[in-house]
Amino acid sequence: MATVSEILDRKGTNVVTVTPDTTVLDAARLMNERGIGAVLVTSQGALLGIFTERDIMRRVVAAEGKPGVIPVREVMSTGLTTTTPTSTVEECAALMTARRIRHLPVLGPTGLAGVITIGDLLAYQVSEQALTIAQLNSYLYDTR
Ligand SMILES: NC(=O)c1ccc[n+]([C@@H]2O[C@H](COP(=O)([O-])OP(=O)(O)OC[C@H]3O[C@@H](n4cnc5c(N)ncnc54)[C@H](O)[C@@H]3O)[C@@H](O)[C@H]2O)c1
Repeated sequence: MATVSEILDRKGTNVVTVTPDTTVLDAARLMNERGIGAVLVTSQGALLGIFTERDIMRRVVAAEGKPGVIPVREVMSTGLTTTTPTSTVEECAALMTARRIRHLPVLGPTGLAGVITIGDLLAYQVSEQALTIAQLNSYLYDTR
């Protein structure tokens, strides 16, 4: 069964982080620059929370907060759901569905080892299915 490790081998282990004092505006600009929907909030190597597009909608825009003033620590999501490099793709998909989340930080033996999204799981499953179809086609038509 495919594991988180295999997804990280393809997409990389780089994690975009901000400190708790980063303003919502700076975090949003960073997310736009990198084309990502979330940043992990860390301090001295410790994972404190995650700040996502949904946090911006719920706790800043809808609350009429000032993005240039509010630090992410005030509006980030805590009580994080995480995964590990040895967890399976199916386990992660079930976790994301049950908790209604799109991003899973990956915690390895030495700390933060990556981040995976529902999009990463889908992309991995689609490419695996394409491979299986190609193999079956080759079996059916090349052995005639
Ligand atoms: N074709 C692909 O390989 C692929 C993979 C993932 C997402 N997508 C597409 O991108 C769009 C949005 O994706 P999403 O909802 O999964 O979330 P997203 O926009 O937050 O993530 C996009 C990519 O950036 C990575 N990423 C996100 N936050 C990160 C962080 N803090 N540090 C390091 N990497 C980070 C994700 O792992 C994912 O690969 C969707 O349209 C999705 O289909 C495509």
